[in-house]
Amino acid sequence: MIKASAPGKLMLFGEHAVIYDKPCIVASVDHRISVSLKKRNDNNIILTAPELNIENENISDLEKSHFKKVSFLLTAIRNFFKKYDVKSGLDIKTQSEFSDKVGLGSSSAVVVSAIKGLSELFKIKMNEKDVFDLSYQTVLDVQGLGSGFDVAAAVYGGILFFKTAGKVIKAINVQNIPLVIGYTGIKADTPTLVKVVREKRTKEPKKINHIFNEIEKIVNLAKTEIENKNWKEVGRLMNLNQDLLRNLDISSKKLENLIKAALNAGAYGVKLSGAGGGDCMLAISKKDNLDNIKKAIEKAGGSIINAKIPTEGVRIE
Ligand code: MEV
Repeated sequence: MIKASAPGKLMLFGEHAVIYDKPCIVASVDHRISVSLKKRNDNNIILTAPELNIENENISDLEKSHFKKVSFLLTAIRNFFKKYDVKSGLDIKTQSEFSDKVGLGSSSAVVVSAIKGLSELFKIKMNEKDVFDLSYQTVLDVQGLGSGFDVAAAVYGGILFFKTAGKVIKAINVQNIPLVIGYTGIKADTPTLVKVVREKRTKEPKKINHIFNEIEKIVNLAKTEIENKNWKEVGRLMNLNQDLLRNLDISSKKLENLIKAALNAGAYGVKLSGAGGGDCMLAISKKDNLDNIKKAIEKAGGSIINAKIPTEGVRIE
């Protein structure tokens, strides 16, 4: 039995603009998803996924189910078999430390874990970029869009300066960022929000391209300030990034309530993280004020995700 695990992610800076060839900064989060794999003597792929109430079911019977995770897993396996010209029946078990509703990137973490696990099981050498490329291809095959920043966080871990499709993947060397993660309780609909922004850009290219250029400047400054551990300045840049996301109309009332609460509790900076409309927000502050901010977010109706940022990328357990 081989077991591989990969971390979740949070976008720190540059969401949406990253789709238009601008850089972003993504952090890995120490909530992991693992995939255990064992060869079978037949050609069946049998899945156990407790978080989906699936126990020992044939994955091809589940393919037409509404479980997104099943299509990601099955496509990862098919892509791996095709690329490396191998085949076998498999027993697969997934385990998740986070819900697929919170926006921490469960689909990409499951794909990356599966591909890393398969490379170990079939003794095929894959470097990190090979795992990234095949995993990103899998995500595109299933959902048709996405910059791949979530796949990069799952593969490499740490904090990454990233450009779409992995054109640039650079580690930003820093440990333990003093962040609070607040969850709105609402699942963001990423594909719809990406399309909304795309339509806005078609209608008002000058305005939207200007916003993306401003976001790019913020991302470049934030890279340096994160490296310098200048959290106050990182916070100021988060507020500026949030202003620009507001101008894209992708924030929401719930996000804004949590953002306001964290700012009133003394955060250096606060912004939404990801596509917008829901999922999570992030607040950065002095270490000794983090608990205050957590309480304020909870009082405003959010829940706190307690997780260390950053963490290690995909690994064999
Ligand atoms: C979603 O979490 C972030 C987006 O930039 C989409 C992507 O980069 O794939 C909106």
